[in-house]
Amino acid sequence: MVIAVDGPAASGKGTIARALATHYGLPHLDTGLLYRAVGIGVLRADADPADEAAALAECGFSDALFHDPALKSEAAGRAASMVSAHPQVRAALLARQRDFAAQAGGAVLDGRDIGTVIAPDASAKLFVTASAPIRADRRHRELVKLGLDVQFEHVLHDIQARDERDSSRSAAPLVMADDAALLDTTDMGIDDAVQRAVALVEARIRTA
Ligand code: DC
Repeated sequence: MVIAVDGPAASGKGTIARALATHYGLPHLDTGLLYRAVGIGVLRADADPADEAAALAECGFSDALFHDPALKSEAAGRAASMVSAHPQVRAALLARQRDFAAQAGGAVLDGRDIGTVIAPDASAKLFVTASAPIRADRRHRELVKLGLDVQFEHVLHDIQARDERDSSRSAAPLVMADDAALLDTTDMGIDDAVQRAVALVEARIRTA
């Protein structure tokens, strides 16, 4: 059983994907980490994330990099969003994601193009979203909790810029798969959102 969870930045898709993985006893892959790893590699090489060849040169990173706290930074997220627009980068990271999805028993993957490109035959697909101000508010609270001094307006602006980049790129843009179930978490707490996600997945599996 493969479960695809897609959606924009700070929509809650990561938390929902982890909860689904625990619920079904499946391994989970946050595919955004792959793009963040490439983004950090480019920044550390003092190169430009907009340079496709420079980004491609950073695609051979080891899984150990996934544990680097720098991947969580806003700078890594911004660089990830830029390198993810390069078709050659997406192609270089494709097999790693498909291999993960092909595990015996299945897996939960979250990202932007899991239901449309990586696992088009997934057993269940969710598209998790929420309004931009609500997503910015959640991200802002997380950052403040981490002790960072950031303005809400700055976070909102960043989220809107990322939405625009992720949705308008020509290579595997952020779009909802035709057969995905929509989960709008704007007015939901995380517990309600997880419960709803499990119910939607159950409904998909039953009718498959
Ligand atoms: O989910 P995230 O914020 O960690 O993702 C960082 C960036 O990586 C995001 O702005 C777009 C890109 N990404 C992608 O293009 N495809 C994915 N499957 C996951 C992330």
